[in-house]
Amino acid sequence: MSSSEMPCRSLGKSGIQISTLSLGGWLTFGEHVRQEDTIAVILKSAFEAGVNFFDFADVYGRGACEEAVRPALCSLPRHEIVVSSKVFFPMSDDVNDRGLSRKHIMESVDKSLRRLGMDYLDIYFCHRFDERTPVEETARAMDDLVHRGKILYWGTSQWTGVQLREVHELCRRMNLYSPQVEQPQYNLLARYAFETDVQPAATGLGMGLVTWSPLSMGILSGKYDQGMPPDSRMAKEHWLHKGHLTEDNLSKVRRFKKIADAVGCTRSQLAIARLMSQPGISSVILGATRLEQLRENLGAMQVKMTPQVHQQIDDLFPCQPPPNDNVT
Ligand SMILES: NC(=O)c1ccc[n+]([C@@H]2O[C@H](COP(=O)([O-])OP(=O)(O)OC[C@H]3O[C@@H](n4cnc5c(N)ncnc54)[C@H](OP(=O)(O)O)[C@@H]3O)[C@@H](O)[C@H]2O)c1
Repeated sequence: MSSSEMPCRSLGKSGIQISTLSLGGWLTFGEHVRQEDTIAVILKSAFEAGVNFFDFADVYGRGACEEAVRPALCSLPRHEIVVSSKVFFPMSDDVNDRGLSRKHIMESVDKSLRRLGMDYLDIYFCHRFDERTPVEETARAMDDLVHRGKILYWGTSQWTGVQLREVHELCRRMNLYSPQVEQPQYNLLARYAFETDVQPAATGLGMGLVTWSPLSMGILSGKYDQGMPPDSRMAKEHWLHKGHLTEDNLSKVRRFKKIADAVGCTRSQLAIARLMSQPGISSVILGATRLEQLRENLGAMQVKMTPQVHQQIDDLFPCQPPPNDNVT
């Protein structure tokens, strides 16, 4: 597809526009995909197809992801791309090398910028809520980073509706830059927290939503129909099986094929297209270990979602609480 076919959407009430489909680097770049030329081809192809938002984190490969994407990212026009990173998860055994304290945020942003070879981040996410740090300390640190020009916007990831409302109220009272975007998990196998809590809260606060794991880490593509392909994510990351690679999920994904076949697209494309049609979403963050996967997934832009297809998908994958913890 060409870049003219990739519409951009507002990031909530902010002025910035990001591509409806974006690309992230969790478990792929610098980990399962290490060849520099493969990484470059995937990132550049995404950019040429109109993707302008690229999502990374310090903890992805403990710095390896940010380093692995640097050559390819630096070859793209900086002003045309929106690059994010994240802070929260431990980067070493050191007691302060984790969380959302002022110290860890200030030190982490410089390390991410060095690894990415950039002067500023467009978006800096608090990768989780930190129970041990006062929210005011975190919000002030993020506000300072905006004033220093090291980040343009800040965001949250996997925060609850209550936590989002609280931080917005605090920022309003203290006249601080508030988080402009939340990054929650959202896919057909994990709808409940997003649709019943995060989406109404974030949208009400004027925040954008950029959602992760649209294929439930590849499961919705149908690649696990006949067992475990040896080079797949689930073959390499056994810790992800629990709560995801269940017989119930696999059986639904097999039945999903009939709906996708009738529409004339793949299950990956239909799963992604369904998310794009959900109100409030600024961008769906894709993951890909191969160029063919990226190309297929970008084809979701061409899928025509009728109300009947929408209903069939919702009947097969109802919005219900997960039987156990379904969040990585
Ligand atoms: N904020 C957070 O806490 C958080 C958490 C997770 C992810 N994220 C962000 O969201 C991004 C996307 O998440 P994700 O990688 O889990 O997305 P996903 O789309 O659910 O899974 C992507 C993986 O599925 C497989 N795949 C993708 N397309 C396929 C296709 N068409 N056919 C067959 N297999 C396919 C590939 O893995 P294999 O080829 O290895 O099987 C690929 O790496 C991440 O890169 C990251 O930026 C954020």
